[in-house]
Amino acid sequence: MAMPRPAAQPTTGETKTMSRDSLTITDNRTGKTYELPITNGTIRAMDLRQIKADPGDFGMMSYDPAFTNTALCHSKITFIDGDKGVLQYRGYPIEELAERSSYLETAYLLLNGELPSKAQLEEWTYHVTQHTFIHESIKKFLDGFHYDAHPMGMMISAIGALSTFYADAKDIFNEASRRKQTWRLIGKMPTLAAFAYRHSLGMPYAYPDNDLSYPANFLNMLFKTTEAKYRANPVLERALDILFILHADHEQNCSANAMRCVGSSQVDPYSATAAATAALYGPLHGGANEEVLRMLLDIGSVSNVPAYIKRVKGGEKRLMGFGHRIYKNYDPRARIIKRMADEVFEVMGRNPLLNIALEVERIALEDDYFVTRKLYPNVDFYTGLIYQSMGFPVTMFPVLFAIPRTSGWIAQWQEMLLDAEQKIARPRQIYMGAAKRSYVPIEQRS
Ligand code: CMC
Repeated sequence: MAMPRPAAQPTTGETKTMSRDSLTITDNRTGKTYELPITNGTIRAMDLRQIKADPGDFGMMSYDPAFTNTALCHSKITFIDGDKGVLQYRGYPIEELAERSSYLETAYLLLNGELPSKAQLEEWTYHVTQHTFIHESIKKFLDGFHYDAHPMGMMISAIGALSTFYADAKDIFNEASRRKQTWRLIGKMPTLAAFAYRHSLGMPYAYPDNDLSYPANFLNMLFKTTEAKYRANPVLERALDILFILHADHEQNCSANAMRCVGSSQVDPYSATAAATAALYGPLHGGANEEVLRMLLDIGSVSNVPAYIKRVKGGEKRLMGFGHRIYKNYDPRARIIKRMADEVFEVMGRNPLLNIALEVERIALEDDYFVTRKLYPNVDFYTGLIYQSMGFPVTMFPVLFAIPRTSGWIAQWQEMLLDAEQKIARPRQIYMGAAKRSYVPIEQRS
């Protein structure tokens, strides 16, 4: 039997260890030792496959439900340091982008890797704006939904339906085609969202106004009534633009992973975006902003907060808008949003639920349960209060997340397509079911 080798070879006559970028594993079933290269702090899962108990063995796999410790890709798009509460798009801190950029400029940055020149930004804005209209048949399609249909359900269906209008979208390895679908998707998301909202109210659809900025046009399609030209309040227009910047990407989250996974089958980007939107809809992801507002309404008053926190600690409920897989510190987006809320409340009046939210945060940040688990407010904790003050019903909150996240999804999808190492996503399983057995006719079953 082979004896295990030491992980690091001692230098002659010394006990000093030599640093090597490798990992030595000893399989105690066989006594064999394997040296696996370490690159960027990572070993390749496929390098484990050589570790076998006997020659007929399939080889070692790693078991990682929910991908808590598995890197899926190399990426150059978004950087997060969860312990320090840092978020950067293409290297630019989120705080600087929120202060100085616009959503469309940020979307360009995510998709192209660099901030645009003035001419590039004009051209990009022109193309996105030229693609805000949707085919009249999509309007008819939206008309088919019941008046109280959840707008996220309508969005998932309508985005998927777009794929049937643009056959050229299947040409995913053609750069010009990808660019066109990108203009279309980013241009049409606000239109679909606004039309879903107007449908729920039974109001006629308001068409895009291409003279307006991206957020102002969205507000126009949502709230325009009889006026000849809709003029958005500049504070709300800027607030929405900042919220869009903050939601544009967040590396390998559940919906980005859905986008990459579904896209890896080489389906068109509308179908993959519909899948990503479905992933975002869930209450643990983009649906959390909706749940936060319902939770604050449920708490009802500041004096009820301690009792509610007690129920959370007892495992009866989750504190929505708190906690994050990656952030073990204050979510930097939540910090910006909390500051921004005051500007919106100055225009629209203070949201009465704010006091409850502040009390929840105050108690939670001092409580051992939340402190030891490093549970801090995330992006969704304060957004709902702003959206509600701006006049959005709660069901529209996740839609307001999906619109800007589209640029991040497309950036992730494109990076995946152009990565020579990527293939169709296909995880493994550990089969724990019944061993082979024979079919039993129904009359013989007990
Ligand atoms: N309230 C109460 N306890 C919580 C919460 C919470 N919001 N989040 C996590 N915990 C506890 C959890 O019970 C567990 O405790 P224990 O170790 O005793 O079992 C511990 O903290 C670790 O939680 P986890 O579920 O293993 O953590 P995760 O990384 O799998 O989940 C999360 C991350 C965001 C799904 C979770 O924190 C959560 O459900 N938060 C509420 C929903 C929410 O706000 N989602 C929005 C996320 S940010 C926007 C986005 O990207 O979509």
